[in-house]
This record gives sequence, structure tokens and C-alpha cells, in this order.
Amino acid sequence: MENSKLKKLLDDMSLEEKIGQMVQLSGEFFNNDDNVVTGPRKKLGISKKQVFLAGSVLNVVGAKKTHQLQEEYLKHSPHKIPLLFMSDIIYGLKTVYPIPLGMGATWNPSLIEKAYQNTAAEAYASGNQVSFAPMVDLVHDARWGRVLESTGEDPYLNSLFAASMVKGFQKDLGKNRGIASCIKHFAAYGAVESGREYNSVDMSERRLKQEYLPSYKAAVDAGVEMVMASFNTLNGIPATGNKWLLKNILREEWGFNGILISDYAAINELVAHGFAESQQQAAKLAVEATVDIDMQSSAYVNELKSLIENGLLNVEKINDAVWRVLLLKNKLGLFEDPYRGANEKIEEKSLLTPKKRQLAREVADKAIVLLKNKDDLLPLNKHSSVALIGPYADEHELLGLWAVHGDRKESVTINQAFSEVIESKHLSVAKGTNILDDRTMLKGFGLSDESIDKMLLTDTQKETEHEKAISAAKKSDVVVMAVGEHTLESGEAGSRTDITLPYQQKQLIHDIANLGKKIVLVLISGRPLVLTDVINDVDAVIEAWFPGTEGGHAIADVVFGDVNPSGRLSMTFPYNVGQEPIYYNELSTGRSVKTSKHSSRFMSRYIDAPVTPLFPFGYGLSYHRAIYSNLNVNKNKFSSDESIKATVDIENNSYYSGIETVQLYIQDMFASVVQPEKNLKAFQQIYLSAHEKRRVTFTINVEMLKFYNTNLDYIAEPGDFKLYIGKNSQDVLETNFTLLG
Ligand code: BGC
Repeated sequence: MENSKLKKLLDDMSLEEKIGQMVQLSGEFFNNDDNVVTGPRKKLGISKKQVFLAGSVLNVVGAKKTHQLQEEYLKHSPHKIPLLFMSDIIYGLKTVYPIPLGMGATWNPSLIEKAYQNTAAEAYASGNQVSFAPMVDLVHDARWGRVLESTGEDPYLNSLFAASMVKGFQKDLGKNRGIASCIKHFAAYGAVESGREYNSVDMSERRLKQEYLPSYKAAVDAGVEMVMASFNTLNGIPATGNKWLLKNILREEWGFNGILISDYAAINELVAHGFAESQQQAAKLAVEATVDIDMQSSAYVNELKSLIENGLLNVEKINDAVWRVLLLKNKLGLFEDPYRGANEKIEEKSLLTPKKRQLAREVADKAIVLLKNKDDLLPLNKHSSVALIGPYADEHELLGLWAVHGDRKESVTINQAFSEVIESKHLSVAKGTNILDDRTMLKGFGLSDESIDKMLLTDTQKETEHEKAISAAKKSDVVVMAVGEHTLESGEAGSRTDITLPYQQKQLIHDIANLGKKIVLVLISGRPLVLTDVINDVDAVIEAWFPGTEGGHAIADVVFGDVNPSGRLSMTFPYNVGQEPIYYNELSTGRSVKTSKHSSRFMSRYIDAPVTPLFPFGYGLSYHRAIYSNLNVNKNKFSSDESIKATVDIENNSYYSGIETVQLYIQDMFASVVQPEKNLKAFQQIYLSAHEKRRVTFTINVEMLKFYNTNLDYIAEPGDFKLYIGKNSQDVLETNFTLLG
């Protein structure tokens, strides 16, 4: 539709209709029957008429369902303005990829862009037009359940992924096919205090700009259509009512003119925060902060009209918000075709195709991080006899919490994949124990006694399973133990204070280790786990995350050597939970254990645990062995209009070929604001053939040396810098250079 017609439409709309466009409700609202007002409508106190004026709907997926709902909706809409379908399609719709923390470990944004393009194609065919993804929050604390949804702890790496995910979703928008992306949660939600869900965030504006905002900014620069405000307070002000954050920074400074949506019921929660004294004030504050859509609360639908009629809110603010909503609907072509991609036949052909599964397998292969490989136990010989033991041995639940529309049954279990590789006479399988045995915790997830009983092995079954596991281990050459977190232990509202493996799984590992067998540990998890209490019991460790639909295949690919693992951690694995939050790019202290001359007690350390993590950022092993040497710079002094070339030689000292991720870090040795010990500034993935030697070149320019000073100017200060190039944030070669004044 031409903009002039769209403008006319806006002018023709009644105030109620306009307010409706600013309201988003979940699908269940639309199923209420005519007379009895029960369920969600009653809970929110809104009428059926208001429901059918709501401009967008949340988490209704499937060509048939969306088609039917749109048809019904349009019968009620005075101006036939189509309903916009938005969903949480976070890392795949039906073809599910590894969780974003696993995607982060690929260090391959262009591969991930393809994954999101495929996801957009599935979402499109299922009648969805917007996804509430990617989550681009930077994370430092593995206790927070939502680290699962993040690509990790580094601003530079996160920014690359943020842009690539947005581009993947929106790539085909111009051709009227892809879907719009909504990044979240703006801003700094990943810094909730003590890793506790929905908690507060307090940080300096300088740190916010330096570390937390770049990934959102990268998504805005990549053209993202929507932004979701976060639940948390930021320096005392809830993001949902934070004019400075949403209006001044996001819209005015960054030029974002797309739709801003609240998080689930967050406008109403401004009252619970104690920031608004009534729901009416909450609605006013959110509109003034330019939040265009109220997700799942009654604030806008019930309060905006009287605010305007009583002169407490300028109607132009409503017009601006509605205009932005109409613009997106128009851009998506909904006025011409309200059903857009929703077509059951196309849907059938589009979901879970072999090609899409193939890409999911490639991503899962590349997301796997090999954490330990003592005496090169891996890869296993396909003719060795293998005992596959553990609660994840034959488990379909490999998708993780946020794959809400995925079908568990479609995922390939580890047992299924192993059976395709080795002969059945060489494979014995035993569950050994439950994933999670803690009934109190399971009940806390809202599960009934009955469903818990169905889920858990009884005590007698556990004994039998345990015996089965022990005898399988005894008769095999090697044991592969598939263990990990329960799906409900991570993701939203999955904060934990103990991030080790569940007790009975650790017990099983110790019992098998006591047999003196070689053990490969395969970990399924949504976060970096503390592995200190099991690491010495096992010979090899593979972090597979929640690996998605093709998870079993990817694990088998790596275990049996069809794929040489190349994943590198994008988030630190702590030594123990007391170290959290722990991350590689911390500021230099006055008493670093590396450089301080104080006696050891008086250094920045713990008296009961090491200060270093178990596995640092950037870490990961491969079957090939890369040796780094000859780090050189072509000059060691340069001025801001010049650049430096840094080179390093990398030799593959093995018979395996594989991908090596060469990482470049910089440290500013002296600055007006204390700087991190290291900052990732560039990396390259190279392919090394067996015994190949390559020289890798990086260009260093002044942009890579900039930081926010105390005036919040983004500048580089002349002086000395250290340059590190290596395999991970700790294992590096180093040299120096100087930026001239
Ligand atoms: C989450 C969002 C999500 C929304 C809608 C909220 O609880 O924080 O990430 O998009 O629900 O499902």
C-alpha cells in the first residue's frame, strides 16, 4: 500500500482501534467463547471486542492455525487491518539448531546467518512474520539460566553474531518472504545481579556503552525491525519506562525507527517495581519512553483512552506508535495478502527438509567444543566396543528450553546416531540413572506428582539400570557417558546456585571410573557447568550444549572422527560457582596474581580456589595440533592514520586436517580509564591440511584501540599496547606496539 493510503487509514481509525494496534495478546485469548468470560480475558480484565482489536498475537504457529485466526480476526476488524503474528523462534522452528551459546562456539557468524535464513523460511511457511530473536544480551554469569540464549561474554563476537542473525532472518524480507527480527532484551539484561532471573542491573554508563550496548547497536545497524525492552531496572529505572535508554539512546542517538515492544507483562510490572503508582501511570510512562506495543498486559488496552481523554497524554504519541506498527504490516505486504506465507502445502515442503537438517548438523558439529582429550582417546575407532551410558544416551530431549515449537520426537538421539556408525554387537546402551532425581525441584517446575512418576525411574529400576551400566562398561573397550542438565534447569527462570552435574549423575561417573575404564564424557547443557569434581575421573570431554534436532548425529560425527571438532568457548567455564561472574576481559587490578609483588595472600585471588577458570574463553581442542610461532609486526610504532600488519606462523603438526580459529587480543597498557587485561579484537578461521604450515596476517588500526573515556567520548589514547595472538584467551604469543600521539 502506498504511504499516502496508509496515512489515510491511520487518520480514519478510531482511538480504540489505534490503541488496539498497540496491544499484543497470546493465542489463547482469541479462543474464548462468546458468553462466559473465563481464563485469560478475565485475568486481564479485557473485553472480547478489545481482544479482536489487538494488533498482534503471540506464539501462534502453523499455517492452518494462523490462517484460521487471521480469517476470523478480519471479520471483526473495522478497517480490515491484518493481525501480525509474532513468536519466540529463538534457534529454529521445527529444524532446531544448537542453543545460541553453542552457535557462539562456532565462531562462524556467516554459517549462523544461513541457519537463521532457514529458520525464517520455516517461520514464514508457518504463518509467522516476526521472531523475538536474537537475544543479544552479553553474559558473564553462568548461574543465569538465560546464558543459553546468548552467544557469550565478548562484545566483539556478540556484535558479529547479532548482525548475522538479524540479517539471516530478514534477508528475504525484500522479496516478501523472510521474517522481521526483534532483538532483545534492551538493555543489559545479561547483567542481572547474582545471576538471578528478573533481578536488577546497576552499572556505570561507561561500562554499559563499552561492553553491553555494542551488540544491540550492531543489530540496529544491520537493520533490525523491532526491539524488545528488558524486564530489569538499569541504574534504578526499569527499562520499560526508561526514556533515556529507549528514546535518547536507541531512537535518537542510534536512529532506530522501528517498533519497540515491552517484554511479557512488563508495563504492568512497572507498578510492582514501585516505579509507577498505578497501571495508568505505568502505561503513560511506557508510551512516553516510546514503547509501541504492550505485550500481554492490560495497561495500554485499559488505560490509554482515559489518559488521552483527560489530557494526560498527547494523542500524537499514540499516532507515532500506531504508524510504526502499520509501517511494518505494510512492509510485510499484509494489506495485500494477510495470510502471507501461511500455506499448508508450502509448510509441509518447507519444514525439516533434508537440506535444512544437513545445515543443522553442520552447525551442531561446529558448535561442539572438545574440552579434554587425554592421550588422544578421541576419535574412537569405529570397530571398538562401546558402552553408551547415561540418562542422555537415548534421549530425544536435546532441543533445550527455548525450542518451544520444536518437536522432540524429530531429534536424533545419541544411540540412534551411534547405531548408524558402529555394529550393534559393538554397542551396549544403558540409561544408568535419571537426568534429575530431585522431586522438590521438579515440583517447583510445576510438574504434577503423576508426571514426575512417569518421568523418573523407580528405585528398583534405578538399581537395575545401574547394574546394566556397570556390566556394559565392564565388557566394553571404552565408555561414552552422556550426561547433563535437565532441560528445565536452564533457559528463562532457570537460575541456579549450584551449576555442577546433578548428584546421581556424578555418582554414576565415579562408579564407572572406579572400574578403570577409559571414559568419554558427553555433556548436554544450557550453560558452562562446573566440572571440577568429575574432570579427573574421565579421559575426554565433549561439550555438546543442547545440540538440536541433529544433535545425536553431530556427537557421533565428533566421537568417531568424521568431524574434527573446531568449537571454541564463547563463555568461560568456571572452576567453581564462587568465581561467578567470571570472564576473560576483566580489568587489570592493582594486585594481579600474574604481576603483583605482594606476598601471595594479599593479591587479587581466593584462598580456597584458583583465580583462573577451568576452561578459558576461546578455548577448545581439535584432533589436529596447531603450533603457533613467529609473531611479528611490520612496525612497532604507528600513528592513527596508519595501520600495522601482524603475522603469525601456524603449523599443523598432525595427520588431521581441520579448522583453526586464530584469535587476536589487545591490551592497552596505560589509559585514562583502566582497561581489560585483554580484549578480543579480531579472529580468523583457517583450514589447515595435514602438516600444512600457513602464515596468517591481521591488520591493526586505531579503531581497535578505542574505548569510552570519562567524558564518554570514544577515543584511542596514544601509548603502549600489547598484542596477543593465539589459540584461546590464555594460550597466546605476545609482542608490543605503540600508538604515536
Ligand atoms: C521473555 C521473552 C519472550 C517473551 C514472550 C518473556 O518472558 O523474557 O524473551 O520473548 O516472554 O514469550
